[in-house]
Amino acid sequence: MSGLWVIGYGSLIYKPPPYTSFRVSGYLKGFIRRFWQSSSDHRGTPESPGRVVTLIPLQDLKDNDKFHNSLHLYELGGRESGLGDVTPRDIQDIAHKVNELDEDDLRVWGVAYYIEPENVPKVKEYLDVREQDGYSTHRVPFHIVEFEDDHEILQLVPKNEAGDSYIESMIYIGTIDNESFIGPESIDETAGVISKSRGPSGPNIEYLVNLNNAIRQLDNNRARDYYLEDLVGLATAS
Ligand code: BEZ
Repeated sequence: MSGLWVIGYGSLIYKPPPYTSFRVSGYLKGFIRRFWQSSSDHRGTPESPGRVVTLIPLQDLKDNDKFHNSLHLYELGGRESGLGDVTPRDIQDIAHKVNELDEDDLRVWGVAYYIEPENVPKVKEYLDVREQDGYSTHRVPFHIVEFEDDHEILQLVPKNEAGDSYIESMIYIGTIDNESFIGPESIDETAGVISKSRGPSGPNIEYLVNLNNAIRQLDNNRARDYYLEDLVGLATAS
């Protein structure tokens, strides 16, 4: 049996699974991160579900106009340039920009943990229990930017044509067709839900703030996620 790489882009960033040997940080290409997965078992209850993160792949963003406004505001810089209010005239233009995007244009910062072969079954079992509620496992490339340990396994990591080190890793994603996916949801609405929700794992706001703080520390404090930063501002003010 070989070892396993597990990617964290949500709570796994600040709360690692057990039996990890070391972690690297970096990014995924071709996804956006949103608080569009409802949580009735961790940060909310069945009566009052909270919100946790999932990833939406580029192809789903291209295929579904309903996601374009959120993409326009954050990854396409619409909010920064003051073009927050989309008029019907802008819609075609935004759709064109989304269709022109390629995977390199979308980056989600996160971490990947290495699990030694003998610990793989225990970690998989732990994560399958911890991460229920609509998530399924996938394998995607993860691009390494920094590592905290010079473990020998890192010598075996392949490089792509641009010379970047990447690994194929296991990841949990709540795909857009799972029953707990609630996107698109406006950032104001999401902030309102997060500010009042609480579940068996604690207050929803704690998950959001811990995640944002943990991401800010990646890449020598250079990593940013503007959607998360706005959400923290709105949820802590509500
Ligand atoms: C995570 O990366 O923390 C994660 C996100 C969603 C499901 C499972 C793990």
